Amino acid sequence: MAKKILVTGGTGYIGSHTVVELQMAGYDVVIIDNLSNSNIEVLDNIAKITGIAPEFEKFDLTELDKTIDFFKRYSGIEAVIHFAASKAVGESVEIPLHYYRNNLVSLINMLECMEKFDVPNIVFSSSCTVYGQPDKLPVTEQTPRKDAESPYGNTKRVNEDILNHTLNANPHLRGIALRYFNPIGAHESALIGELPLGVPNNLVPFITQTAAGLRDGLKVFGDDYNTPDGSAIRDYINVVDLAKAHVIAIERLLKGKNKSNYEVFNLGTGNGYSVLEIVKTFEKATGIKLNYKIVGRREGDIEKIWADTTYANEELGWKAEKGLEETLLSAWNWEKNIRGIK
Ligand code: WQD
Repeated sequence: MAKKILVTGGTGYIGSHTVVELQMAGYDVVIIDNLSNSNIEVLDNIAKITGIAPEFEKFDLTELDKTIDFFKRYSGIEAVIHFAASKAVGESVEIPLHYYRNNLVSLINMLECMEKFDVPNIVFSSSCTVYGQPDKLPVTEQTPRKDAESPYGNTKRVNEDILNHTLNANPHLRGIALRYFNPIGAHESALIGELPLGVPNNLVPFITQTAAGLRDGLKVFGDDYNTPDGSAIRDYINVVDLAKAHVIAIERLLKGKNKSNYEVFNLGTGNGYSVLEIVKTFEKATGIKLNYKIVGRREGDIEKIWADTTYANEELGWKAEKGLEETLLSAWNWEKNIRGIK
């Protein structure tokens, strides 16, 4: 009997890629999503890739009664991967209360139900934003967290504390927080990928939409940073590599290999690339000349961050494998597929 895993936010970008990897690994997946930032067609596309349509429940996890009702109807869930959250940095500055309610209450409801219905394992989707601008690079899991630059980043930090304290108070529960760096790219089938609703906040979907002619040009937010070419540096990680790390984290918990009941892992490549390097690599990978211009810095951006991946490599036995060119090409193939570009 396949083990049943609940994936909240499973029709989203990272969630959908993780559902595919879970199904490919033989797990039985049920998704909860409120479809506030994703489309239900993702379910069909997951099924086209894996041959299995995941079970799906549409409701908002901030509604405790609906969450309790879900667990009454779905017994035997062995673990939860909690992606469900609002995640646009800029938007969080404009509507902070929505971010605090949505991101904190949904996790609190999930943890209360895990206690109530004896669901022992959780993998939590966290973010490198908890580090702010690190004083020392690369970043390890011991790098001190800093005050978040945005309400979104603060919800990740507070949620880590909620998780940590709840797990410490409930020895029969155990969890892993995965701190993502910058997820990019799409599944090789080009059937699932990042589909931002409205104007993309993130760099790579803005690049692919510019290449597809949906945007006039890319604005590069600043070239006066203390970096080799002046533009900001990030650690861009292929979304499929990231998804595979979630399966490994789930198996670590299911097999009781965790060393404490709250663990944290950085998920990055260990390489930092600047915005202008991403632009040039995209042009090289696709043969498309990208229209861009340098503008002022974006409020709340940090200058540079990339991960020390030693702990995840050694302790999880996981390493990001896909290169930047291949990953940017996968993002472009996805964009072409959804825009009907040959
Ligand atoms: C990357 C770089 C921008 C758009 C955010 C979240 C983080 C994680 C990943 C969830 C920056 C520059 C961007 C554009 C640009 N999300 N840029 N022009 O801000 O590093 O991280 O997404 O886990 O938590 O904070 O990602 O893709 O927005 O920006 O020059 O049109 O690209 O200034 O230097 P970011 P991003």
